Amino acid sequence: IVFQRLEKNFRAFTVLAFIVTFTTFLFSFTLRDPSLYFFKYAIHKSDNFFSKGQCGCRQCMTELEDDPWFTERFNQSVHPLMSRRNSLLTDDTYHWWQQLQGHKDPANFSEVVEKLFQVIPDDDDLYKDAGPERCRTCAVVGNSGNLKGSRYGPLIDSSDVIIRMNMAPTSGFEKDVGSRTTHHVMYPESAIDLDNTTSLLLIPFKTLDLQWITSALTTGSINETYVPVQSRIKANKNRVLIYSPAFFKYVSDTWLESKGRYPSTGFLSLLFAVHICDKVSVYGFGADQYGNWHHYWENNYNGGNFRETGVHDADHEYNVTLLLADKHKINIFKGF
Ligand code: C5P
Repeated sequence: IVFQRLEKNFRAFTVLAFIVTFTTFLFSFTLRDPSLYFFKYAIHKSDNFFSKGQCGCRQCMTELEDDPWFTERFNQSVHPLMSRRNSLLTDDTYHWWQQLQGHKDPANFSEVVEKLFQVIPDDDDLYKDAGPERCRTCAVVGNSGNLKGSRYGPLIDSSDVIIRMNMAPTSGFEKDVGSRTTHHVMYPESAIDLDNTTSLLLIPFKTLDLQWITSALTTGSINETYVPVQSRIKANKNRVLIYSPAFFKYVSDTWLESKGRYPSTGFLSLLFAVHICDKVSVYGFGADQYGNWHHYWENNYNGGNFRETGVHDADHEYNVTLLLADKHKINIFKGF
């Protein structure tokens, strides 16, 4: 009997020793090499179990132990939208912004901003509603021909926020691109009319663009920039937003390392989404399966070729977009 008891105790001791050794090994291993994703993930998620995470999605835009490439670039203190309060630009930003389209003799910037915010809302708090209970899903829909035949429509429409841009139509293309639009990104030369429920997000490239939107929503007195433009626009003026020139410069300098003359509408929209959403899905970016860079509503493969504008560095933009996907910050739906 004594012998049997001893053997039982010995077995219990061995099991205990094994557990202690294995646990110590696991922890020291994880600390030495934090790239061991499974262990890091398990520890991280159990953290979230006790103290809530940054958002309500399975994965959030910012994580506890984040990717260094991403954290070096992602700067939450630069707000994507312009308000009266943040409209004052540093000399550096103002000059960088003014030379984008080289407009001579611009009007007084602060007077123009003041008039603009007498027409549209000046809301400083928009999209700062991140929280552990919320999972804000966004679809950024670029204009690539790779959307044709994709049947992504229902998937795109299921997002909370759906961002489209420039001349993008939905009518007649619903199966592939969806029909809902919560935000339409444009500049005066690419403007189209919107319905009452959609937010117009204006990317201003010059002071005149801020004067144009003020005029297009009221008197209709401006009908030309460097080309003829719509003098009036159908849009809900309570839902007009202005892309901040300071954020524009941040996207160009930090995310594109100043490659290309300036970022494309698609890339600016993507970074806007990265800053206001928890989960970003990207559609309609890049070439189609035959290497064409046309728009999804055009049959002319050379028409509106985004890659050959000479203004954007399309390849670099696409590579940064792929890196964001690689770091699990966005999902790219590559189309056909
Ligand atoms: O041509 P447009 O600028 O209106 O297209 C909107 C955006 O969609 C572009 O700025 C670009 O980021 C993206 N795009 C793309 N590949 C294409 C066409 C457009 O990535 N073939």
